[in-house]
Amino acid sequence: MHTIAIIGLGQGLSHLQAFQMLPDCRVVAVCDADQALAQRIAIQYNVATVHPHIDAVLSDRSIDAVVIATPDHLHGAHAIMALQAGKHVLCEIPMALTIDECQQIITLSERHGLTYQMGNQVRYAACLTDIAALLRAGDLGPIFYGEGEYLHDYHDIVDDRPADHWRIDPVTPQTTLLGGGPHALDTLRWLMGVRYVEAQAYHVSIPSEWHTTHTTVALLKADSGAVSKITVSYGMQRPYCLYYSVYGSAGSFERSRDQGSPMAETTNYYSHRKLSGARRLIPATVPNWYNPRLPRSMMLGHGTMEVEQAQRFVAAIAANRLADINAREAADSIVPLICALQSADQGGGVVHIPELEVHS
Ligand SMILES: NC(=O)c1ccc[n+]([C@@H]2O[C@H](COP(=O)([O-])OP(=O)(O)OC[C@H]3O[C@@H](n4cnc5c(N)ncnc54)[C@H](O)[C@@H]3O)[C@@H](O)[C@H]2O)c1
Repeated sequence: MHTIAIIGLGQGLSHLQAFQMLPDCRVVAVCDADQALAQRIAIQYNVATVHPHIDAVLSDRSIDAVVIATPDHLHGAHAIMALQAGKHVLCEIPMALTIDECQQIITLSERHGLTYQMGNQVRYAACLTDIAALLRAGDLGPIFYGEGEYLHDYHDIVDDRPADHWRIDPVTPQTTLLGGGPHALDTLRWLMGVRYVEAQAYHVSIPSEWHTTHTTVALLKADSGAVSKITVSYGMQRPYCLYYSVYGSAGSFERSRDQGSPMAETTNYYSHRKLSGARRLIPATVPNWYNPRLPRSMMLGHGTMEVEQAQRFVAAIAANRLADINAREAADSIVPLICALQSADQGGGVVHIPELEVHS
């Protein structure tokens, strides 16, 4: 039995529900800076222990693994503390906000043989299952270009939040690239199968309504010579969208940008040189964010992706193998975003992406 604690109970509540659905897991403790919220959730979800502070979670020897779903700027420190305390870690995006913290997380997880996973659940999206398999098999040929977009009107996220909420607090604002950006870049990088070596980016100059960036566009060069374009916007007046396209010398893939709800069906488009008679992209109707093989009761805030992520995380612990988005994988996505943000913050220009060392 895996014993889990959830730290941070906003998105953390979806993680709590996901782990409670797994027969080999027990959520034994919760922790939130808002004690009343933690008490309420513990009662509602029948969790035995409410710890008042992360230190108490980490010194609780009955806990094997922690989910870190605290604000972005705390992820690095919280993951490092948890790994130092010998806990397996599932940490929300982003892995951390600094390259040094990413480096420490790699070193600690490898030195202590602990499972670390960054929680980009989009890698488990049903709408990407087929294209991921085609790309792994090389069916699109060598990949030379790809696009990833996270377009989310920030009104949807912060309108019902207090004015001092961390996402819009001028001291700790969520940024485009390191906020929603990991969904765009990590998923695209995984599809393309590349490592990025150079980044350059621009913020649009239109001011954001919040103390954060409005829209940021990054170009990334991969070790293979392929190029990617990442767009992250909180200010775009359009419905939510997670868009990906991947172009290889033998074929192309494009998502629809009109996607509907996580539980809806959506359209992907394909083209392949073996189908030379096709004058139009070939549409395929696929489930958006839900796995039709799982019961509807497993759908949480993001379809069935949280449950599948939880399953994969504990399977990695049980098998003592690297998690899907292990510390190196996570750093291969987050360090480029940190470099792209540096480029955009300085008004553009190429930033070389360091390859992190491992000091086990
Ligand atoms: N993967 C996804 O799709 C997804 C979706 C939503 C949020 N997130 C991520 O989850 C994280 C949390 O976002 P959210 O929307 O849930 O925010 P939130 O503000 O709703 O929840 C964060 C919680 O953390 C608590 N907290 C703050 N500091 C703490 C500390 N030191 N110790 C314990 N608890 C603390 C807060 O009281 C709050 O309840 C963010 O990093 C966000 O990017 C990811």
